[in-house]
Amino acid sequence: ATTLGAAAAGSNRYFGTAVASGRLGDSTYSTILDREFNMITPENEMKWDTVEPSRGSFNFGPGDSIVNHANAHGQRMRGHTLVWHNQLPGWVSSIGDANTLRSVMNNHITQEMSHYKGKIYAWDVVNEAFADNGTGQHRSSVFQNVLGNGFIEEAFRTARGVDPAAKLCYNDYSIEDWSSAKTQGVYNMVKDFKARGVPIDCVGFQSHFGSGGAPASFRTTLSNFAALGVDVQLTELDIAQASSGAYANAVQACLDTARCTGVTVWGIRDSDSWRTGENALLFDNNGNKKAAYTSVLNALNGS
Ligand code: G3I
Repeated sequence: ATTLGAAAAGSNRYFGTAVASGRLGDSTYSTILDREFNMITPENEMKWDTVEPSRGSFNFGPGDSIVNHANAHGQRMRGHTLVWHNQLPGWVSSIGDANTLRSVMNNHITQEMSHYKGKIYAWDVVNEAFADNGTGQHRSSVFQNVLGNGFIEEAFRTARGVDPAAKLCYNDYSIEDWSSAKTQGVYNMVKDFKARGVPIDCVGFQSHFGSGGAPASFRTTLSNFAALGVDVQLTELDIAQASSGAYANAVQACLDTARCTGVTVWGIRDSDSWRTGENALLFDNNGNKKAAYTSVLNALNGS
C-alpha cells in the first residue's frame, strides 16, 4: 500500500494523527490528512476547557468541526479526553466538595459522550492520572484529592453507561518502559479493574519519545498489558529528530502485538507539533515526506 492508513489497514490496524480544527482550512494540511490517515484525535477540541468552560454550558462546535471532517472523509475518531487535570477550567479545580465534584465529573462525561454517541471509536476516559515520582501512585489533582483513588473507576463506570459501543481507554505518557514504577502502577490498576469487572477496553501509550525512541522493553510492556485482556494503542507518537530507525521500531512494536489496534502520531508536519523545533513528526514544514515516513510505511507494509 502507498499510504500509512491503507498500509495499516492491511493488518486490520489504523494509522491516525492529532488534528487541530484551526488548520483544517490549510489545504496542504488537509490534503495530507485525508490521503494518509484513517483515524483522528482532536488535539485540543474535546478537552474540558473547550467543551464545558463554565458549569453546565457546553461548547461542541470545535469538536464537531473535526467530527464532520472525519465523517466526510471516512476517518474514525478517538475522543480525547474526558477527565484530565490539565486544560481543566478553574471552576472545576476549585471545587472542594466531593458530592459536587462527583456530580460535575459524571455530568461532564455524560453530556460529552452523549453528544458524540456512535461517532467515537475509543475514548480516553481518564488521561495522565499517575504520578511521575517513582511511587506508582496517582498524581495530585482535584479529582484525586477530593474524590480519592476511586475517581478513575467511577469515570469508567459512568462512561460505559453512556455509550456502551465505545471502547474505553486509560491514556498516559512514560508508561512504555516496563521497569518504571509508573508503568507498574497503571498495569496494577488495569489488572485490578479486569479482576473486579470495572469496564476498561484499552490502554493508550502516548509514546512521546526522545531521539533514542522507544525503550527496549516497549514490546514487553505492550504484550503484558494486552495479556490482561485489553487492546493497546500508540496514541500520541512523536520522536525528537524523527530518526527513521526509531520510528520504524516504535511502529513495529505495535505490529508485533496482536492486540495493538493502531498508531496515532501527534500532528502532521513538524510545524504542527507541540514540540517546537524538535522535528518530531513524519512530514516537514512544507508537507514533504521525511525519511521516517518511508520507514514507517515500509514497516506497516511488512517490507
Ligand atoms: O487557544 C489558545 C489561544 O486562544 C491563546 O491565544 C493561545 C496563547 O497561548 O493559547 C491557545 O491555547 C493553547 C492550546 O494548545 C491550543 O493551541 C494552549 O496555550 C496550549 O497550552 C495548548 O497546548 C496543548 C497541550 O496539550 C496543553 O496541555 C497542545 O496543543 C497539545 O498538543 C497538547 O497535547 C497533549 C495531550 O492532550 C495529552 N498528552 C500530552 C500532549 C502534549 O502535551
